[in-house]
Amino acid sequence: MEVRFRDLSPDRIKTDLLVLPVREKRLEDPTVRLLDRRLKRSLSERIEKSQFTGAEGTTLLHATGGLLPATYLLLVGLGKEEIETDSWRKAAARAKKEASGIGAEEIAFYFAPERDPEGATGAIVEGTLSASYQFHKYRSNSKPPPAVRAITLFRSGLKRSAAMERSARLALDLGPGVFLARDLVNEPPSVTTARFLADQAGRFCRGRGLSVEVWGKKKIQAMNLAGLLAVNRGSTEEPRFIIIRYKPSRARKRVTLIGKGITFDSGGLSLKPAKSMETMKLDMAGGAAIIGAMSRLPYLRPETEVTGYIPTTDNLPSGSAQKPGDIIRYLNGKTVEVLNTDAEGRLILADALAYAAKQKPDCMITLATLTGACMVALGTEVAGIFGNDQPLVDSLIRSGREAGEKLWQLPLVKEYREEIKSSVADLKNVGGSYGGAITAALMLQEFVDGVPWAHLDIAGPSFAEKEMPTCPKGGTGFGVRTLLKFLATF
Ligand code: BES
Ligand code: MN
Ligand code: ZN
Repeated sequence: MEVRFRDLSPDRIKTDLLVLPVREKRLEDPTVRLLDRRLKRSLSERIEKSQFTGAEGTTLLHATGGLLPATYLLLVGLGKEEIETDSWRKAAARAKKEASGIGAEEIAFYFAPERDPEGATGAIVEGTLSASYQFHKYRSNSKPPPAVRAITLFRSGLKRSAAMERSARLALDLGPGVFLARDLVNEPPSVTTARFLADQAGRFCRGRGLSVEVWGKKKIQAMNLAGLLAVNRGSTEEPRFIIIRYKPSRARKRVTLIGKGITFDSGGLSLKPAKSMETMKLDMAGGAAIIGAMSRLPYLRPETEVTGYIPTTDNLPSGSAQKPGDIIRYLNGKTVEVLNTDAEGRLILADALAYAAKQKPDCMITLATLTGACMVALGTEVAGIFGNDQPLVDSLIRSGREAGEKLWQLPLVKEYREEIKSSVADLKNVGGSYGGAITAALMLQEFVDGVPWAHLDIAGPSFAEKEMPTCPKGGTGFGVRTLLKFLATF
């Protein structure tokens, strides 16, 4: 996709689809009036008849009938609330969908943000790209819709800046990271095995400072990643421990990313009901987000050393599976009684945290589809974030806001530590009936050894159960953009 900038008024631009974002109940705007005059009042008539007001999420598509150089005009409602970077992302995504409907290959987007033109540029490009994603390889009548070839940002008097150009370029360069994360989640769980995930990491994360090391079962045993081995016991597939390294020539800081890589979560012997298993291929979305984000680091080129760890296996019941009551002894000496084999994410993340903490990075970030409780608390569009370092948490929340990924902080309530104390081991892997996202995070905290750490519980937003403006049903790639924004400034 090509991105262009033009100094032109909307009645002069030649394009398949002219997109005009409008605020709610501000339809007497001079640009709308100008176009209405050129369209011989047919636009105001349509607005009247359709009762289009510019409410957030609504659109009005109007054929210009040759009265304008543009073939179609699309009004996109921005609503009346304050416009954020993400408003542009969503508006562009909606425009892309309409473009598919009329087979438009070129979009011209009227560009007049009140502030942060770089942020808006990036968001418009991201929204357009993001809405173009499809996972159609398993459909027999697979015919992808026409791609948008070019998007032009324009208004009369528009001055393109180097910062805007850079922002557009970066959005184009980083976009494939989101698509990769979505693809990895969307693949059927018998395709995305631990081995497959490791192969994909090796395939997409190489060159220009990036390298991948994969530990097989023997090495995992030798390194005593006891949680990963315990969860893997029920499986006929071997586990993997994926390490992705990004080493720039001069690094100021070191960041560690840790992603949950459960390729299918049946619950193990604490078996889930069938309905709850339907989407459990999503349980490697944290790992997928790290692979997706890190695969684009050669384009972002941060001056930070980044190490990604992804412990990966499926979680299945069998004669050799771990049993409720079993105890795991971790490499930092701590012991955990497994009372529920369905609380497996924390078991494999604990290994990675204990191992990573020994290297004393400047910070560690865990990304995991960890608890249904977090979805109960925050719904499907908001991830929970926890941490022992408030500036780190704040910085991630800010990155999320710019990326259009909502993060809401939940507390690490120290009083609740009582709930994860075991009568036979140091800890147990489940708490009581309430606050399940918190007790899960508290168990992880036992393995961070004082290193600044933030934990994102992405169980809700990593998978769209219904179509979203910027994403079809399925894996969303949640976290990729937040991580990249964060790494750009850390
Ligand atoms: N992978 C699930 C969490 C999950 C649930 C993610 C729904 C996305 C959608 C996790 O391994 C799990 O099973 N958690 C249990 C923990 C419980 C047994 C303490 C849960 O949330 O029910
Ligand atoms: Mn589980
Ligand atoms: Zn799980």
